[in-house]
Amino acid sequence: MTTPVKPEFIATNVEALATATGRIVIVVDGDLPSSLAAKRVDRLTRGAVTRFMESDTYAKMKPGDGADLAFPSGLAADALQVIKLGRRVERAEARKAGGTIGRSLGKSECLIATDWHPRTVDIALGMVLRAYDFNDHKTGDKSEIGTVRYMVNAPDEVAAAYADGAAMAEGVFLTRDLVNEPSNVLTTTEFADRLAALRELGLEVEVLEEAQLAELGMRLLLGVGQGSESPSKVVVMQWKGGAADAAPLALVGKGVVFDTGGISIKPAGGMEDMTMDMGGAGVVAGVMKALALRKAPANVVGLVGIVENMPDGRAQRPGDVLRSMKGDTVEVINTDAEGRLVLADVLWYTQERFNPAGIIDLATLTGAIIVALGHENAGVFSNDDTLCNAFLKACATEGEGAWRMPMGQAYDDKLKSRVADMMNIGGREGGSITAAQFLKRFIKEGMPWIHLDIAGTALVKNDLPMSPKGATGWGVLSLDRLIRDKFEPKPEAK
Ligand code: BES
Ligand code: MN
Ligand code: ZN
Repeated sequence: MTTPVKPEFIATNVEALATATGRIVIVVDGDLPSSLAAKRVDRLTRGAVTRFMESDTYAKMKPGDGADLAFPSGLAADALQVIKLGRRVERAEARKAGGTIGRSLGKSECLIATDWHPRTVDIALGMVLRAYDFNDHKTGDKSEIGTVRYMVNAPDEVAAAYADGAAMAEGVFLTRDLVNEPSNVLTTTEFADRLAALRELGLEVEVLEEAQLAELGMRLLLGVGQGSESPSKVVVMQWKGGAADAAPLALVGKGVVFDTGGISIKPAGGMEDMTMDMGGAGVVAGVMKALALRKAPANVVGLVGIVENMPDGRAQRPGDVLRSMKGDTVEVINTDAEGRLVLADVLWYTQERFNPAGIIDLATLTGAIIVALGHENAGVFSNDDTLCNAFLKACATEGEGAWRMPMGQAYDDKLKSRVADMMNIGGREGGSITAAQFLKRFIKEGMPWIHLDIAGTALVKNDLPMSPKGATGWGVLSLDRLIRDKFEPKPEAK
């Protein structure tokens, strides 16, 4: 990726607006420029801002939208961007406004006057997230983004408040980089190496190799990977920022570095997208990184099952029966329903080893969730209304789409097998739900659990307000928010 933008926060000095080169950004609301900076720019440009605010273009702009006034006379700058945003806005709206700024950044320097805006930190985070660009594999001109400065009233305070935002952005960027990376680069070994590198930040990281996984009895996971040249692995990441005796929250991710479907091979069209089939594991990695960077006062463990699903002479076949680490047997009807096999063993291992306070798994699990919810919402499945509602609230706060899906015995019944305890598929109808029911069979009685099917939200083909096309990093912000709200001591109790 390009070097992430690191915004600087400087004291408001409206005199600097006349001489600043590159881009100037002002934030306005209502009918007339009212902030000190907007008024000054209006005066310098002989009313260009006021005239713009009287135009139809401005009237039609929605909160967070922006418009460029090119080569504004009276300023040394080449461009003046006017962002429409009220003072009293939700966090997600301010982030979107930031995204508008981030999309337009280039190699020239940029001065953003948010002197009056209480949500400057969110504007800055939205900007940084949107300015991400995955260009590692492009040759030729790769100009970096120029210096970005925010003019604010209390620069030290804003900079301190933004520090957590910078940690979040780093987490999101790790997730995006992993998801965007092609599978010849991000092999299982490379993935584990990149996670091991997080030790530098104070995370404990263990890499479990095939021999250990076999000893633990993870035959479902090993079965998926047995057709690949790349060795299967489970990586365990621990962040111990909370009380020594507090049970951790566990995050579990599907890390299929490439999903051909195996012997039940997928059609050629679109198969290249299966480089993103490690998206769940990518989000787990991103959250763990963000927690370490912001030194979160919480205990969180992140476990990912890293495998590659390939057809081969040694690959598993449809009809194979495997015994899981839990002990239940599974008839593999379709080798393309591999994510649930990987997760089943990692979920069981996580509960046996950590007895967590709650467990949240993330997986690009089913195409059916894209049919149901599109790319706008992730599917949320849970056995615990309290944990689930807290998570949905966190998603709303962060502006990440999430929608709860039903579960129930009738769906579970579809997994009945003639020869084993269960099949790994439950038919086309309600395919995301039967997949969730399969996972639920590996969740212990009374363990609060959420399953997030992120097949639609992990990667999108169009630009979004806060991410360019490609990997989105969906989930990192909401999971971090959930951890802050529910798994960390309240500030006054600290
Ligand atoms: N990785 C896929 C799901 C997927 C599809 C992710 C599209 C992202 C975009 C998963 O392993 C899979 O192949 N699921 C099958 C399940 C079926 C065989 C029951 C599917 O969705 O078709
Ligand atoms: Mn598959
Ligand atoms: Zn898959």
